[in-house]
Amino acid sequence: MQVISIENFTKDYGDNKGVFDVSLSIEQGEVYGYLGPNGAGKSTTLRHLMGFSKPDLGNLSISDLDCWKDKTTIKKDVGYLPGEIALPDDMTGMEYLKLIDKLRKTNDLTYAYELIEYFEIDTSVKIKSMSKGMKQKIAIIMAFMHNPQILLLDEPTSGLDPLMQEKFIKLIKSEKQNGKTIILSSHIFEEISKLCDRVGIIRKGRLIKEVVMDDLKHSENKTYKIEFKNEDDFNRIKGLYPDAQFEARKNQALISIVDSEINDFISNLASCDLLFLKEEKHTLEEYFMKFYEGDENV
Ligand SMILES: Nc1ncnc2c1ncn2[C@@H]1O[C@H](COP(=O)(O)OP(=O)(O)OP(=O)(O)O)[C@@H](O)[C@H]1O
Ligand SMILES: [Mg+2]
Repeated sequence: MQVISIENFTKDYGDNKGVFDVSLSIEQGEVYGYLGPNGAGKSTTLRHLMGFSKPDLGNLSISDLDCWKDKTTIKKDVGYLPGEIALPDDMTGMEYLKLIDKLRKTNDLTYAYELIEYFEIDTSVKIKSMSKGMKQKIAIIMAFMHNPQILLLDEPTSGLDPLMQEKFIKLIKSEKQNGKTIILSSHIFEEISKLCDRVGIIRKGRLIKEVVMDDLKHSENKTYKIEFKNEDDFNRIKGLYPDAQFEARKNQALISIVDSEINDFISNLASCDLLFLKEEKHTLEEYFMKFYEGDENV
């Protein structure tokens, strides 16, 4: 079941800035990563999903409701974590969370208290004296505490220390298990790779690529570096993998294969006398960086 749908969404701020003709849809229970360089249009898209602004063209809907016309109804079941948080300085964390609970008419702080404990945050201090990470935690709790089915999270771990980032990842995994539908914008590839089912890459306001993470993880080329003890083995393998890189002086080879070729690869090497065999890591980061750097031919 499709929960979030964006069709031909355009918001033109002029001067080639904004979002142009973006279409994507997110299924129930999916975690969708929204990735792209600064100024690409991630926050603009999320703000329009929240109905804060009217699109110039196209339609955005959540659970079949129009994000602009039905924004008040939609908000009840959506948790939004803005990219730039602005909290009232003069309130304590708890006063603020209670106020939000009252405005939402939820009258249930059970989950909020659980999250306060989970993120180890002292909510009795005034927001103005909180650190960036503490404020971020308050904003996270605000987005999650009414237990919404849909979460729109704009760079959720920005300002969190590595331990808290890990805790956040665990929280998202458990929310996903509860069937929540989540869109998450991030610049942290590791976070994206641990959490997302699919990733959309946006650049200069245009959605340039959508990737199924499992496909990417399995289809990824893996490169192995090998050093042979003798020249005969080196030459034999060179004959079998003519496209690989070979360095005769060192009897070394760099051979790239996909997972489905692994058995053949191992049996070809089985009779060789090797000095070492190691995998050269291709990270998802390398894959995504190509899009950041603007290489269109990937
Ligand atoms: N209200 C606005 N008025 C004019 N231009 C805007 C407005 N909001 C966003 N923009 C422009 O639209 C583009 C997309 O901005 P957006 O904030 O969506 O990017 P982003 O992908 O979230 O970037 P970042 O990674 O830096 O958060 C930018 O060029 C930005 O300057
Ligand atoms: Mg942003």
